[in-house]
Order: sequence, then C-alpha cells, then structure tokens
Amino acid sequence: MLTTDSGFTINTLGVKVGAEIIGADLRKHLSAAAFAEIEDTFYRYSVVVIRDQELTTRELVEFSRRFGTLQINVRSKTKTKDADIRIMPDEQEAIYISNVKKDGKFMGSTDAGRYWHSDLCYEQIPSKMTLLHAIEIPEKDGVVYGATKFADVAAAYDALSGTMKNRLEGLVAANSFRHMWQRKADDFGTRMKLGDEELAKLPEDAIHPVVRVHPVTGQKCIYICDGYTNRILGMPEDESDQLLSELFAHMTKREFRYQHEWSLNDLLMWDNCAVQHKANFDYDPSLRRLMQRCTVMGDAIT
Ligand code: SIN
Repeated sequence: MLTTDSGFTINTLGVKVGAEIIGADLRKHLSAAAFAEIEDTFYRYSVVVIRDQELTTRELVEFSRRFGTLQINVRSKTKTKDADIRIMPDEQEAIYISNVKKDGKFMGSTDAGRYWHSDLCYEQIPSKMTLLHAIEIPEKDGVVYGATKFADVAAAYDALSGTMKNRLEGLVAANSFRHMWQRKADDFGTRMKLGDEELAKLPEDAIHPVVRVHPVTGQKCIYICDGYTNRILGMPEDESDQLLSELFAHMTKREFRYQHEWSLNDLLMWDNCAVQHKANFDYDPSLRRLMQRCTVMGDAIT
C-alpha cells in the first residue's frame, strides 16, 4: 500500500500488472500533480482501477481527454439492424458495451471482448489506452460475473526464448477488423455476415509490427492478437498460422494473467500495448451488464 502526495491510496492487485486507486473523485477537477500520479500509476501497472466513480458520460469523456485525443469507434459510425451503440446520436467518443436492450434494440456492443485482443489495433494509429466504467454489473446470489481478463504481453515477450525473439525481429502482421467481423458472425451469430460491398466500407487491414516497443516504458510487447491478427506477412500462410497459434497460446498463459473482478462504479483503465484483454461471458443473459467506454489515441507505430 502507498499513499500519494494527493492522498490517493494505491494497492497492487496482481503480480506485475493490476493496481487500484482509492480516494480520487474524478467529478472534481484534478490538479496537474494529482493527474500525474494517476498517469504514473497507469504506466507502472498497465491495468488500474479507480474505485467508486459515479460518472456521467460527459464526466467520463472529460477525464479520458486528459490522456489525449479520443477515438471514434468504427461501430459508433456503423448502425446495424439490431444495435446502435452510440450513447447519444451526436456523441461518438464514448460507447456502451452492454447486453441491455432499450426499445427492443441492444444499446451497446454485445460481443466486445469475445477474443483476446488489443483495442483498435486494426486502426493505422491504435489506442494507447481504454477506460471502461461499470454502470451495472451482472450479479446473482452475491456473486459478481463478467470479469475482464488481462494478459501481460511485455512479460510474455520477456519469457520467449532467444531463438523466438530473433525469429520475430522485424516481422509485421495484418490486423483486420473485417476478419474479426466475419469470425464473430460465424462463431456467435452476434453480427450479420457481410457481403463484399459492405465489407469494403469497414476499415482496411492495418499492418503493425509483431513486437512493439512501448512508447513510454521502452518494454518490448507482443502485438499480434487472436481477435484481429490474421496473417504474418512475408511467409507462407501455413507457417504464419502455425506461428500465430504458438504465440497466442504462449502470451495468454495463466502466469501472465490478471483478472479484474468488477465492482459497481469501477473506472478501469488499461494500456493497449502492455496488455491484451478478453471478457468473461459467464453470466445469464437476463443479468444486466452496462459499461461505458472511451479509447485514447496513441502515437503512430514506428
Ligand atoms: C472490451 O473488449 O473492450 C470489453 C471488455 C469487457 O467488456 O470486459
């Protein structure tokens, strides 16, 4: 336990990633020094929860903006037949992640986090961080469901053999929003499978390094993910498939994981270079889960 100069209490929650901040009130303006303490904690622990934040969407957006430019999620521009994930028609910087229906339509993305992934890695400039705020959490008989799992992909890189590290040097891979869309349609039926014309309207695949250097900490991190990466370039397809499977299995091993068990009004922030995440869909669909989310743009990957 640590108490900061601004009076926040910081407790570690996981082995290397995962910490909580207690005693902050994000509805009030934070001084530069208090904000710097939160930012330092974020880069030190990669997954950080600020407890007890009863935030409106506007307050979430305003706090998130202190970390940088917010991204407009492709799905908040894409209205589908069964869901419109915009919180307000003219407010696109925050989206709902939810199984809750309003007027017969899902009011959020129902299938975010089905596969291990890093948010918006299919964009040319991906997200450096995500902020996810728990408005309603699924709970039954005193048990809370719907945890979010994280994998420390910096630790996973460090644990690779020297031979594998050399093999990955300089490799690049395609991260594909289109691939993920069709796969979710096949695996879960949560989306309609798209034809060529509709697919062409979705973002083009982004080519990113298989191993990234973290822009702040300098750590090397594995940056391919099960959710979006469908091909390592410059090698035959079967070799790419084999290498991707090997890396996916390695980087999500239990020894690299932290699991966040949600409490109401948690504001969870994670570093999309240092960790990857996956949601637990272990709750009965009748139990409501309502989260609001912002993502902050990172730097171009060089
Ligand atoms: C996400 O993948 O961004 C959502 C994670 C969650 O709902 O737990």
